[in-house]
Amino acid sequence: MGLTDEQLEVLRWDGPTPEPVRRDPMRLGPNLVADPPVVLAPMAAVTNPPFRMICRELGAGLVVTEMIYSVGLVHRDKRSMQMLDIRADEHPVSVQIYGKDPEMLARAAAIVEEAGADSVDLNMGCPMRKVVSSGHGAALLRDPSKVFEIFDAMVKAVDIPVTGKIRAGWEDTNAVEVARAMEDAGAAAVTIHGRTRCDMYDGHADLAVIRDLKQSVGELKVIGNGDVCDWVSARRMFSITGCDAVMVARGCLGNPWVFEQIKADLAGEPIPEPPSAEEKARVLRRHVDLYVDTFGEELTTRQIRKHLIWYFRGTAGEKELRQRLKDIEKRSDIDDAIDAACERCDADYSNVA
Ligand SMILES: Cc1cc2nc3c(=O)[nH]c(=O)nc-3n(C[C@H](O)[C@H](O)[C@H](O)COP(=O)(O)O)c2cc1C
Repeated sequence: MGLTDEQLEVLRWDGPTPEPVRRDPMRLGPNLVADPPVVLAPMAAVTNPPFRMICRELGAGLVVTEMIYSVGLVHRDKRSMQMLDIRADEHPVSVQIYGKDPEMLARAAAIVEEAGADSVDLNMGCPMRKVVSSGHGAALLRDPSKVFEIFDAMVKAVDIPVTGKIRAGWEDTNAVEVARAMEDAGAAAVTIHGRTRCDMYDGHADLAVIRDLKQSVGELKVIGNGDVCDWVSARRMFSITGCDAVMVARGCLGNPWVFEQIKADLAGEPIPEPPSAEEKARVLRRHVDLYVDTFGEELTTRQIRKHLIWYFRGTAGEKELRQRLKDIEKRSDIDDAIDAACERCDADYSNVA
């Protein structure tokens, strides 16, 4: 999505650790329960089937696809339909779509339902210029009556739950107004990222906006999003805002174990240790296997680099890995690069010991 390395870094909160929090699984409809109430965020060019499956296996209670253009789905263009690829073992999965025309979005929602998704989500948070300049993403926040019209059409078109993802507002905060329009039209949940469109990724997410929203809606479930990157920040999001579930985006890049940590904490269990070198290598290989299965070897060698670098970010293996990734051509090159990076990390640990 064209974010800088700095924007991809979560600004951690370093205050005191909040008290433990308990939350029931989040029910969005008769057939959709997020258990635990911890959601993998939609991330363009990231939350494809391999990454979604890794996150489900490590504890995410619900996963969301990359955003897919509604008009592309309605015209059943190849790229959009490929993005609608849902695997049997990743459920529950929500498909995120974007657009601005109620009829197109309703037709796209029906196609999403037909593809086997457990829910359909509308993107109203994307701040990128090329998206908002066409009236999509966060641009919709400026027109709550249009939001009502869109949700009314989508809810009437499908039986699965319809949800939406918003920011706190465009420049000023109007999240309550937007969420009420969604609720009046029959939406099941709203995810709110506690920054305005103009904030982009600056500063900390504003949890007071999320709390105010939660207190202003009725049955509409509220999913809190922004800077949740470990069990401490998840506790903080739940306890300050009273939200029904938390959503994690940047905090799981290279660290899908964050889901099992939050899951354990919500269940009152001890927080699992950070992954050992063996566990890290196991998950990496599984991720590569799933990637090759889904996209084939050639695309994998091109696309999986960023994931591998995220897994080793800030470790002794990162430099080694970056060096090796310059000329990977086939699956075995990827395996060799992973081995070399893991060995470099091991050597570093033993130096410290
Ligand atoms: C690489 C990347 C791609 C993203 N793509 C989408 C997207 O397709 N749809 C969406 O609603 N939000 C998207 N987002 C926003 C995230 O879902 C999330 O709202 C935001 O990063 C704040 O959460 P965080 O602090 O946990 O990262 C993206 C974020 C990142 C970092």
